[in-house]
Amino acid sequence: MHLLPKDALIMAPMVDLSHVAYRQLIRSMGGCDLFYSEMLNSRIVPVESPQTSIYLKWAVKDDLIFQLLGNEPGRMEEAASRLDTYEPWGVDINMGCWLNKVTVHGWGAALMKDMEHARAVLAAVRKSVKNRPVSVKIRIGYTPDKGYLLDFASMIQEGGADFIVLHARTVPEGMNRKARWEYIAVLKDHLSIPVVGNGDVRTPEDAVSMMRQTGCDGVMIGRQAVIQPWIFRDIKALMAGNPISEKPDLEGVILNLLDLLTRYFPPDVALKRFKTAVFWLGGNLTFGHHLSKETGRARDAAQAHEIIRSCFEKGIS
Ligand SMILES: Cc1cc2nc3c(=O)[nH]c(=O)nc-3n(C[C@H](O)[C@H](O)[C@H](O)COP(=O)(O)O)c2cc1C
Repeated sequence: MHLLPKDALIMAPMVDLSHVAYRQLIRSMGGCDLFYSEMLNSRIVPVESPQTSIYLKWAVKDDLIFQLLGNEPGRMEEAASRLDTYEPWGVDINMGCWLNKVTVHGWGAALMKDMEHARAVLAAVRKSVKNRPVSVKIRIGYTPDKGYLLDFASMIQEGGADFIVLHARTVPEGMNRKARWEYIAVLKDHLSIPVVGNGDVRTPEDAVSMMRQTGCDGVMIGRQAVIQPWIFRDIKALMAGNPISEKPDLEGVILNLLDLLTRYFPPDVALKRFKTAVFWLGGNLTFGHHLSKETGRARDAAQAHEIIRSCFEKGIS
């Protein structure tokens, strides 16, 4: 059984973003310790194959955690068992997604409403995944009630999870308000299994502050890892007391991602995912929205390539 690396740096699960191409991009820029896949629906995993699925794609799997979404113990067991055969580093259960289109089915954060049901879901996954870590990604809960969070997290620990990831917001908060890192500290004090903190890490200094302030065992980064795929390299430098390198050439980073996307995905999927990515990577520029709007016009990867080249040639910044 693998152990969570010390001070683990982890890329968060993100629909349409934490796919094989982005993961390869991050690896090419220094990498992180572990990557989460996009959330995978437990109803679909058993009937999909890595040969045809756009979600079950990987170049490296010994640092990859597949994230499962669902609430039916039987289907979760079957899906986890299938994922286990692909031999990833680990399997995660999504108990944190707040979106209505997910919670309406009782999936994601909706599981935090029903401790007994969540326990059954974890037991089903644990039964299928015996020889590699199982993590559970949660939020604070539906209210900022520390007592409930600690009871829920204890249930997860007793249910045999190897570590917990806490996105330190309540479910109704969605992505609003500042993440409540103090809840990460409270959870860390209470549990014996490792706790990974998540929410609002935007700079290398933030990552180090989260570790210092909360005592967490790892830091998970979502949005800033897609805006600055080199952030993990910079965090490692800061933690080692080394100088932080210059920012890489953004045009090169964007074109490299386009190449990777076209290598791993069918043309229409690659283009759609590229447009999504440019929206985020544009966050490095004052006029990033212009880059994103221009790229939105591309009808194929070659056009997208030309648009990016021409925007940077004109000196977009
Ligand atoms: C576009 C997008 C897609 C996301 N998809 C998922 C997902 O599939 N599973 C999940 O558990 N969380 C998902 N999240 C939440 C992130 O994993 C993370 O918890 C959240 O963004 C907070 O971290 P950050 O402040 O570092 O971005 C998503 C977030 C974003 C912005």
